Amino acid sequence: MTLHQTGPAAPRPDSSTTPPLSPETADLLAELGGYLVPDPPALSLPPRAFASGELYELEREKVFGRSWLLVAHTDQLAAPGAYVALTVAGEPVVITRGDDGALHAMSPICRHRMMPVVEPGTGRTDRFTCPYHLWRYGLDGRLIGATFMRRNEAFDPAGCRLPQFAVEEWHGFVFVNLDPAAEALAPHLARIESDLVNYRLDDMVLAGEWAEEWHCNWKIAVENAHENYHVMGFHPETLEPSTPGRSDTDLRDDTPWALRFRIPFTEPQQPSLLSLTEDEKAHLYDFFVFPTGSLAAAGEAVIWLSMLPLSLDRTQVRGGMLVPAARVKDLGEAERKEMRQGIESYSAMVNAEDRRGLEAVQRSVGSRFAARGHLSPKEPAVVSFYRNLARALLRGDDEWPGAL
Ligand code: FES
Ligand SMILES: [Fe+2]
Repeated sequence: MTLHQTGPAAPRPDSSTTPPLSPETADLLAELGGYLVPDPPALSLPPRAFASGELYELEREKVFGRSWLLVAHTDQLAAPGAYVALTVAGEPVVITRGDDGALHAMSPICRHRMMPVVEPGTGRTDRFTCPYHLWRYGLDGRLIGATFMRRNEAFDPAGCRLPQFAVEEWHGFVFVNLDPAAEALAPHLARIESDLVNYRLDDMVLAGEWAEEWHCNWKIAVENAHENYHVMGFHPETLEPSTPGRSDTDLRDDTPWALRFRIPFTEPQQPSLLSLTEDEKAHLYDFFVFPTGSLAAAGEAVIWLSMLPLSLDRTQVRGGMLVPAARVKDLGEAERKEMRQGIESYSAMVNAEDRRGLEAVQRSVGSRFAARGHLSPKEPAVVSFYRNLARALLRGDDEWPGAL
């Protein structure tokens, strides 16, 4: 099912008022432009790209203000009244499932005096009541009650609604776009849709989930998710035995939105509930949806991750593991709980291995002696990510996305 928000939209930021860039940031963008040539250099990003507040502001506008962002799985928003609240590059966002089954995405900032009507997290409710002066909003963001406002004749309660964002579901994944003029998501993902047919995403259920905070710039988490080379260093006991870091990466990156890379398993998977090809049994299929979304199909499990900036140096890592519904349908409650705990504790262990390492990288970004480095042939998708980032940052306001 695909739903596209058509209600009153959040205003698009006016970039004509953006102050001119400092010479340092202009230089940084010029360096990023180096990834846009046909055969770009296999070099890591300049260290300033992870530490510049000015570049982060540009990313907020040009990347996070205009891209489809993976934020949840539909099972987290299954029941009427279910909500997921989070922060995307400093913008609070809440997604709800309305009583009519439709999804809504909106800014939870109260239209009175800016109190957030809900804090980041998940839950279920029939309305949002602002904690400050108790204005009440429905699940679609419309104002349904405001205390002691009748004598203000300039106030029109019927026209008062939380600013709306675009939201779509794609095979169970929930994406949000803060740009009210966003193009539909599905055509962007057409290139990877056929790759995922045999994994039957629509028949999968969320068997475990997590949301963690990592103290690093979002690009440090994202570039790490674009390569398997680090598995030998960060994951010697967890992932190295099944997908060793020495393996070659088979990359396909012919769209700016969704790239695919494959890593061979040391032992082919033996699925019993899915009909996978020999290639699918033999490989981890990793898909990356620019800028923050990752889907990893590994035999009968699909792991989704999204690495969403909270600030310049903090990132929320949201994710979950999907399994075929047939695998859990005959399980009792205790067995399901045990399965969930197993998945979540294993994921927490692997995530902690990445987090510890990447937080150490973050501590280096301000060093005077940090520098760009040469990349290995084992990390080709990292350059693809840099190129997609450069495209997004360097495009003009009228160049999204058709002209790219
Ligand atoms: S700020 Fe929300 S009711 Fe006043
Ligand atoms: Fe990792």
